[in-house]
Amino acid sequence: MNNKNATVYVVGNFKGGVGKTKTVTMLAYESATHFKEKTLVIDLDPQGNATRVLAKTGGISSITTSVTDGFSNGDLEPEIVNVTTNLDLIPANTAFRNLTKILVQKFGNDEDSQIFYLKKLIEPLKEKYDRIYIDVPPTISDYSDNAMLAADYCIIVLQTQELSLDGAQTYIAYMQFLSDKYNSNLNVLGIVPMMLRAGGRVDTKVLDQAISMYGGNVLQTIVKYQERLKVYDVEGISINYNQRGKMDMWDQKAHALFINVLTELNEHQKVLDSL
Ligand SMILES: Nc1ncnc2c1ncn2[C@@H]1O[C@H](COP(=O)(O)OP(=O)(O)OP(=O)(O)O)[C@@H](O)[C@H]1O
Ligand SMILES: [Mg+2]
Repeated sequence: MNNKNATVYVVGNFKGGVGKTKTVTMLAYESATHFKEKTLVIDLDPQGNATRVLAKTGGISSITTSVTDGFSNGDLEPEIVNVTTNLDLIPANTAFRNLTKILVQKFGNDEDSQIFYLKKLIEPLKEKYDRIYIDVPPTISDYSDNAMLAADYCIIVLQTQELSLDGAQTYIAYMQFLSDKYNSNLNVLGIVPMMLRAGGRVDTKVLDQAISMYGGNVLQTIVKYQERLKVYDVEGISINYNQRGKMDMWDQKAHALFINVLTELNEHQKVLDSL
């Protein structure tokens, strides 16, 4: 079918290692596999973490296309790689660290063209997908600017261990600034609490603080540490069945968690879209 109109999501926080890539890859997997929606992940992080996980997920041993070539050639379509049923990827490579150079070479000092380039490149892909997820590095940079202005919704990950909401707060403030400056109507779709170490007083406090600031935007589902989610980094995302055809208990737990996250985000989206 060629008449879709993808919704574009960016997962963000201006802090490193808080679970952004985990969230992108798992949400994309559940969108494609559980909800059977045509899904694309665009990896905008030159570290290529999402690329590595999804390549393993699809059993892809060598990747020859890249978002870098897509940006240089002005067309992302030829860079698309199929991962599994309903799930595609535009991979990143380390050459993408030169994004600023590519943008300047293409557009000189024309900042508007620079900042809206990804949005322009995504436009023709929208008719092929239901959902497009963008993974970004944790910096205020050409990567985050391009991703934010190409997205319909921001999904914020909030690490509850930290005594402050800094990374998430800065991200939301910056998102609002960009959205106002460039007249885009980017919204926060939801704030996903990530509790990657054993929960304690700090976590509860940060969570309460987040709820008092952002109210119903904060998801009720809390993403806790699960060894199986870590294993997916190395082995790719999977669902194993035992000899009796029953889903492996740890896979089931990992997938159920992100199906819950996605279900809550979908509910938020329904409300926001009806406003
Ligand atoms: N719920 C979880 N359970 C277990 N491990 C997790 C979970 N969430 C994330 N991790 C692990 O934590 C590490 C950091 O996660 P991730 O790479 O998603 O963070 P990130 O915010 O994308 O980092 P960066 O800022 O470097 O891009 C990874 O090793 C990942 O496997
Ligand atoms: Mg990452």
